Amino acid sequence: MNHTNPSTSKATKGLSMLLGLVVLGSSLSAMTGCRGDRTDKPPRRFFPDMDYQPKLKPQSETEFFVDGKSNRDLVEGTIPFGTTTHDTSGLENTEWANKIVADRARMLKDDETFYFGLVAGSSNTETPQYVDRMPMPVTKELILEGQEQFNIYCSACHGYDGLGGSSGTVGRLWSIAPANLAGDQRFIDRSQDSAKDGYLFHVIREGLYTPDGQIRMPSYKHAVNQEEAWAIVAYLRVLQAAQNVDPSTVDQSLLGEQPAQPATESANDGGEG
Ligand code: HEC
Repeated sequence: MNHTNPSTSKATKGLSMLLGLVVLGSSLSAMTGCRGDRTDKPPRRFFPDMDYQPKLKPQSETEFFVDGKSNRDLVEGTIPFGTTTHDTSGLENTEWANKIVADRARMLKDDETFYFGLVAGSSNTETPQYVDRMPMPVTKELILEGQEQFNIYCSACHGYDGLGGSSGTVGRLWSIAPANLAGDQRFIDRSQDSAKDGYLFHVIREGLYTPDGQIRMPSYKHAVNQEEAWAIVAYLRVLQAAQNVDPSTVDQSLLGEQPAQPATESANDGGEG
Protein backbone atom coordinates (compact mmCIF):
# COMPACT_ATOMS: atom_id res chain seq x y z
CA MET A 1 0.00 0.00 0.00
CA ASN A 2 1.29 3.46 -0.84
CA HIS A 3 0.63 5.90 2.01
CA THR A 4 1.33 9.28 0.37
CA ASN A 5 -1.69 11.49 0.56
CA PRO A 6 -3.22 11.09 -2.89
CA SER A 7 -4.81 14.51 -2.94
CA THR A 8 -1.50 16.31 -2.15
CA SER A 9 0.42 14.42 -4.83
CA LYS A 10 -2.35 15.12 -7.34
CA ALA A 11 -2.25 18.83 -6.52
CA THR A 12 1.57 18.99 -6.91
CA LYS A 13 1.38 17.16 -10.19
CA GLY A 14 -1.32 19.52 -11.44
CA LEU A 15 0.70 22.57 -10.43
CA SER A 16 3.89 21.44 -12.15
CA MET A 17 1.93 20.59 -15.30
CA LEU A 18 0.39 24.04 -15.27
CA LEU A 19 3.82 25.66 -14.82
CA GLY A 20 5.16 23.59 -17.69
CA LEU A 21 2.36 24.72 -19.94
CA VAL A 22 2.91 28.39 -19.09
CA VAL A 23 6.65 28.13 -19.82
CA LEU A 24 6.04 26.23 -23.06
CA GLY A 25 3.34 28.66 -24.12
CA SER A 26 5.38 31.80 -23.49
CA SER A 27 8.49 30.46 -25.21
CA LEU A 28 6.44 29.35 -28.20
CA SER A 29 4.79 32.74 -28.55
CA ALA A 30 8.19 34.46 -28.21
CA MET A 31 9.51 32.27 -31.03
CA THR A 32 6.61 32.57 -33.40
CA GLY A 33 5.16 35.98 -32.66
CA CYS A 34 1.43 36.27 -32.99
CA ARG A 35 -0.43 34.77 -35.89
CA GLY A 36 -1.96 37.56 -37.91
CA ASP A 37 0.97 39.95 -37.23
CA ARG A 38 2.14 41.56 -40.46
CA THR A 39 5.80 41.43 -41.33
CA ASP A 40 7.96 41.91 -44.44
CA LYS A 41 10.48 39.35 -43.24
CA PRO A 42 10.39 35.88 -44.74
CA PRO A 43 8.42 33.43 -42.60
CA ARG A 44 10.31 31.35 -40.05
CA ARG A 45 10.43 27.71 -41.02
CA PHE A 46 10.71 25.37 -38.08
CA PHE A 47 10.51 22.17 -40.13
CA PRO A 48 12.09 23.04 -43.47
CA ASP A 49 12.35 19.38 -44.45
CA MET A 50 8.56 19.19 -44.25
CA ASP A 51 7.99 22.42 -46.18
CA TYR A 52 10.51 21.56 -48.87
CA GLN A 53 10.39 17.88 -49.75
CA PRO A 54 11.89 16.29 -52.82
CA LYS A 55 8.99 15.12 -54.95
CA LEU A 56 8.08 14.33 -58.53
CA LYS A 57 5.37 16.43 -60.13
CA PRO A 58 3.01 14.55 -62.47
CA GLN A 59 4.06 16.05 -65.81
CA SER A 60 7.71 16.65 -64.96
CA GLU A 61 10.79 14.85 -66.23
CA THR A 62 12.98 12.68 -64.08
CA GLU A 63 16.24 10.85 -64.45
CA PHE A 64 15.16 8.32 -61.88
CA PHE A 65 13.13 6.19 -64.30
CA VAL A 66 14.62 5.09 -67.60
CA ASP A 67 11.63 6.35 -69.61
CA GLY A 68 12.19 9.81 -68.08
CA LYS A 69 8.53 10.13 -67.00
CA SER A 70 7.81 10.93 -63.38
CA ASN A 71 4.29 9.48 -63.80
CA ARG A 72 4.15 5.72 -63.83
CA ASP A 73 1.81 4.19 -66.38
CA LEU A 74 -1.28 2.66 -64.78
CA VAL A 75 -1.18 -1.06 -64.27
CA GLU A 76 -3.64 -2.73 -66.60
CA GLY A 77 -7.07 -3.11 -65.02
CA THR A 78 -6.53 -0.27 -62.53
CA ILE A 79 -9.83 0.86 -61.02
CA PRO A 80 -10.47 4.60 -60.55
CA PHE A 81 -10.58 5.54 -56.89
CA GLY A 82 -11.95 8.69 -55.25
CA THR A 83 -12.90 11.43 -57.68
CA THR A 84 -13.66 10.26 -61.20
CA THR A 85 -14.87 11.90 -64.35
CA HIS A 86 -18.13 10.00 -63.92
CA ASP A 87 -17.94 9.11 -67.56
CA THR A 88 -19.56 5.75 -67.23
CA SER A 89 -20.19 4.98 -70.89
CA GLY A 90 -19.56 1.32 -71.40
CA LEU A 91 -19.34 0.59 -67.68
CA GLU A 92 -23.05 0.02 -67.03
CA ASN A 93 -22.63 -3.70 -66.64
CA THR A 94 -19.40 -3.57 -64.67
CA GLU A 95 -20.02 -4.41 -61.06
CA TRP A 96 -17.46 -2.04 -59.53
CA ALA A 97 -18.85 0.86 -61.57
CA ASN A 98 -22.42 0.47 -60.31
CA LYS A 99 -21.80 2.84 -57.44
CA ILE A 100 -20.35 5.47 -59.75
CA VAL A 101 -23.27 5.09 -62.15
CA ALA A 102 -25.67 5.52 -59.21
CA ASP A 103 -23.73 8.56 -57.89
CA ARG A 104 -23.94 10.14 -61.31
CA ALA A 105 -27.69 9.58 -61.55
CA ARG A 106 -28.07 11.09 -58.07
CA MET A 107 -26.10 14.18 -59.07
CA LEU A 108 -28.05 14.71 -62.27
CA LYS A 109 -31.36 13.84 -60.60
CA ASP A 110 -32.48 12.63 -63.99
CA ASP A 111 -35.01 10.16 -62.60
CA GLU A 112 -38.06 12.43 -62.32
CA THR A 113 -40.08 9.86 -60.46
CA PHE A 114 -37.58 8.92 -57.77
CA TYR A 115 -36.36 12.49 -57.18
CA PHE A 116 -39.54 14.50 -57.67
CA GLY A 117 -42.47 12.08 -57.52
CA LEU A 118 -43.42 12.98 -61.10
CA VAL A 119 -44.42 10.88 -64.09
CA ALA A 120 -41.32 10.46 -66.26
CA GLY A 121 -41.14 13.12 -68.96
CA SER A 122 -43.77 15.36 -67.34
CA SER A 123 -41.53 17.66 -65.29
CA ASN A 124 -40.86 20.03 -68.17
CA THR A 125 -44.44 20.15 -69.38
CA GLU A 126 -47.21 22.62 -68.52
CA THR A 127 -48.86 20.06 -66.27
CA PRO A 128 -46.40 17.93 -64.28
CA GLN A 129 -48.18 14.77 -63.15
CA TYR A 130 -47.62 13.12 -59.78
CA VAL A 131 -47.14 9.36 -59.94
CA ASP A 132 -49.90 7.18 -58.50
CA ARG A 133 -47.45 4.65 -57.05
CA MET A 134 -43.96 4.91 -55.61
CA PRO A 135 -41.12 3.77 -57.83
CA MET A 136 -39.89 0.91 -55.65
CA PRO A 137 -41.36 -2.28 -54.22
CA VAL A 138 -42.99 -1.79 -50.82
CA THR A 139 -41.18 -4.14 -48.49
CA LYS A 140 -41.44 -4.64 -44.75
CA GLU A 141 -38.03 -2.95 -44.38
CA LEU A 142 -39.26 0.10 -46.29
CA ILE A 143 -42.35 0.37 -44.10
CA LEU A 144 -40.33 0.04 -40.89
CA GLU A 145 -37.93 2.70 -42.16
CA GLY A 146 -40.93 4.92 -42.91
CA GLN A 147 -42.36 4.31 -39.47
CA GLU A 148 -39.12 5.39 -37.84
CA GLN A 149 -38.87 8.55 -39.96
CA PHE A 150 -42.55 9.41 -39.52
CA ASN A 151 -42.31 9.02 -35.76
CA ILE A 152 -39.26 11.28 -35.68
CA TYR A 153 -40.33 14.05 -38.07
CA CYS A 154 -44.08 13.97 -38.61
CA SER A 155 -45.70 12.66 -35.44
CA ALA A 156 -45.03 15.88 -33.52
CA CYS A 157 -47.62 17.61 -35.69
CA HIS A 158 -49.70 14.87 -37.29
CA GLY A 159 -49.66 12.53 -34.27
CA TYR A 160 -48.25 8.99 -34.11
CA ASP A 161 -51.58 7.85 -35.57
CA GLY A 162 -51.44 10.40 -38.40
CA LEU A 163 -54.86 11.75 -37.45
CA GLY A 164 -53.65 15.35 -37.34
CA GLY A 165 -55.81 17.94 -35.59
CA SER A 166 -54.69 18.02 -31.97
CA SER A 167 -53.15 14.57 -31.95
CA GLY A 168 -49.57 15.86 -32.18
CA THR A 169 -47.97 17.74 -29.28
CA VAL A 170 -46.64 20.46 -31.58
CA GLY A 171 -49.52 20.23 -34.03
CA ARG A 172 -52.08 21.27 -31.43
CA LEU A 173 -50.15 24.53 -30.91
CA TRP A 174 -49.51 25.10 -34.62
CA SER A 175 -51.49 28.00 -36.08
CA ILE A 176 -53.01 25.75 -38.79
CA ALA A 177 -54.50 22.39 -37.84
CA PRO A 178 -52.26 19.63 -39.28
CA ALA A 179 -54.04 17.51 -41.88
CA ASN A 180 -55.60 14.16 -41.04
CA LEU A 181 -53.34 11.94 -43.13
CA ALA A 182 -54.79 8.64 -41.97
CA GLY A 183 -58.52 9.25 -42.24
CA ASP A 184 -59.15 11.96 -44.84
CA GLN A 185 -60.16 10.65 -48.29
CA ARG A 186 -58.15 13.52 -49.80
CA PHE A 187 -55.04 11.52 -48.95
CA ILE A 188 -56.49 8.03 -49.37
CA ASP A 189 -58.48 8.05 -52.61
CA ARG A 190 -55.82 7.92 -55.33
CA SER A 191 -58.24 9.28 -57.97
CA GLN A 192 -57.57 12.65 -56.32
CA ASP A 193 -54.20 14.29 -57.01
CA SER A 194 -53.66 14.96 -53.31
CA ALA A 195 -53.69 11.22 -52.57
CA LYS A 196 -51.10 10.18 -55.15
CA ASP A 197 -47.86 8.75 -53.79
CA GLY A 198 -45.96 11.36 -55.79
CA TYR A 199 -47.86 14.24 -54.18
CA LEU A 200 -47.36 12.97 -50.62
CA PHE A 201 -43.65 12.58 -51.43
CA HIS A 202 -43.59 16.13 -52.78
CA VAL A 203 -45.19 17.60 -49.62
CA ILE A 204 -42.66 15.82 -47.40
CA ARG A 205 -39.72 17.12 -49.41
CA GLU A 206 -40.98 20.64 -50.15
CA GLY A 207 -43.39 21.49 -47.34
CA LEU A 208 -46.48 23.66 -47.87
CA TYR A 209 -46.63 27.41 -48.35
CA THR A 210 -49.41 29.88 -49.00
CA PRO A 211 -49.19 31.67 -52.39
CA ASP A 212 -47.61 34.67 -50.63
CA GLY A 213 -44.92 32.47 -49.06
CA GLN A 214 -46.32 32.02 -45.53
CA ILE A 215 -45.37 28.65 -44.06
CA ARG A 216 -48.16 26.10 -43.55
CA MET A 217 -45.94 23.07 -43.09
CA PRO A 218 -42.11 23.03 -43.07
CA SER A 219 -40.11 21.16 -45.71
CA TYR A 220 -38.27 18.05 -44.53
CA LYS A 221 -35.77 17.96 -47.37
CA HIS A 222 -32.90 18.67 -45.00
CA ALA A 223 -33.81 15.73 -42.82
CA VAL A 224 -35.12 12.92 -45.03
CA ASN A 225 -33.57 11.92 -48.34
CA GLN A 226 -35.63 10.68 -51.28
CA GLU A 227 -35.52 7.04 -50.21
CA GLU A 228 -36.68 7.95 -46.69
CA ALA A 229 -39.44 10.20 -48.02
CA TRP A 230 -40.80 7.32 -50.11
CA ALA A 231 -40.56 5.10 -47.04
CA ILE A 232 -42.71 7.60 -45.14
CA VAL A 233 -45.30 7.46 -47.95
CA ALA A 234 -45.37 3.67 -47.61
CA TYR A 235 -45.94 4.01 -43.87
CA LEU A 236 -48.73 6.58 -44.41
CA ARG A 237 -50.60 3.86 -46.32
CA VAL A 238 -50.24 1.60 -43.29
CA LEU A 239 -51.64 4.29 -40.98
CA GLN A 240 -54.56 4.73 -43.40
CA ALA A 241 -55.23 1.02 -43.58
CA ALA A 242 -55.14 0.85 -39.78
CA GLN A 243 -57.91 3.47 -39.54
CA ASN A 244 -60.14 1.72 -42.02
CA VAL A 245 -59.76 -1.89 -41.05
CA ASP A 246 -62.85 -3.94 -40.15
CA PRO A 247 -61.86 -5.43 -36.76
CA SER A 248 -63.86 -8.58 -37.41
CA THR A 249 -61.58 -9.41 -40.35
CA VAL A 250 -58.43 -9.31 -38.23
CA ASP A 251 -56.95 -12.65 -37.22
CA GLN A 252 -57.08 -12.24 -33.42
CA SER A 253 -54.18 -14.61 -32.91
CA LEU A 254 -51.92 -12.10 -34.69
CA LEU A 255 -52.74 -9.35 -32.20
CA GLY A 256 -50.49 -8.91 -29.21
CA GLU A 257 -51.59 -7.47 -25.91
CA GLN A 258 -53.19 -4.11 -26.56
CA PRO A 259 -51.57 -1.12 -24.86
CA ALA A 260 -53.79 0.75 -22.43
CA GLN A 261 -55.23 3.89 -24.02
CA PRO A 262 -53.63 6.99 -22.49
CA ALA A 263 -56.16 9.31 -20.81
CA THR A 264 -56.98 12.04 -23.30
CA GLU A 265 -56.19 15.53 -22.11
CA SER A 266 -59.31 17.60 -21.69
CA ALA A 267 -57.75 21.04 -21.50
CA ASN A 268 -55.74 22.53 -24.30
CA ASP A 269 -52.88 23.93 -22.23
CA GLY A 270 -51.11 26.38 -24.45
CA GLY A 271 -53.41 27.13 -27.35
CA GLU A 272 -54.10 30.74 -28.10
CA GLY A 273 -53.03 31.98 -24.65
C1 HEC B 1 -44.61 21.62 -37.74
C2 HEC B 1 -45.80 20.85 -37.96
C3 HEC B 1 -45.78 19.81 -39.06
C4 HEC B 1 -44.90 18.80 -39.25
C5 HEC B 1 -43.71 18.43 -38.38
C6 HEC B 1 -45.35 18.07 -40.39
N1 HEC B 1 -46.49 18.63 -40.89
FE1 HEC B 1 -47.56 17.95 -42.48
N2 HEC B 1 -48.88 19.47 -42.24
C7 HEC B 1 -48.81 20.42 -41.23
C8 HEC B 1 -49.95 21.31 -41.35
C9 HEC B 1 -50.26 22.46 -40.42
C10 HEC B 1 -50.67 20.89 -42.48
C11 HEC B 1 -51.93 21.49 -43.03
C12 HEC B 1 -51.63 22.67 -43.89
C13 HEC B 1 -52.86 23.29 -44.47
O1 HEC B 1 -53.95 22.73 -44.33
O2 HEC B 1 -52.74 24.35 -45.05
C14 HEC B 1 -49.97 19.74 -43.01
C15 HEC B 1 -50.37 19.04 -44.14
C16 HEC B 1 -49.77 17.89 -44.58
C17 HEC B 1 -50.22 17.16 -45.75
C18 HEC B 1 -51.41 17.50 -46.63
C19 HEC B 1 -51.04 18.36 -47.78
C20 HEC B 1 -52.23 19.02 -48.42
O3 HEC B 1 -52.20 19.18 -49.65
O4 HEC B 1 -53.19 19.40 -47.73
C21 HEC B 1 -49.40 16.06 -45.85
C22 HEC B 1 -49.47 14.98 -46.91
C23 HEC B 1 -48.44 16.14 -44.77
N3 HEC B 1 -48.69 17.28 -44.04
C24 HEC B 1 -47.47 15.21 -44.52
C25 HEC B 1 -46.50 15.35 -43.54
C26 HEC B 1 -45.45 14.40 -43.32
C27 HEC B 1 -45.32 13.07 -44.03
C28 HEC B 1 -44.64 14.90 -42.34
C29 HEC B 1 -43.33 14.35 -41.84
C30 HEC B 1 -42.26 14.34 -42.77
C31 HEC B 1 -45.21 16.16 -41.92
N4 HEC B 1 -46.33 16.40 -42.66
C32 HEC B 1 -44.70 16.96 -40.91
C33 HEC B 1 -47.87 20.52 -40.24
C34 HEC B 1 -46.78 19.70 -40.09
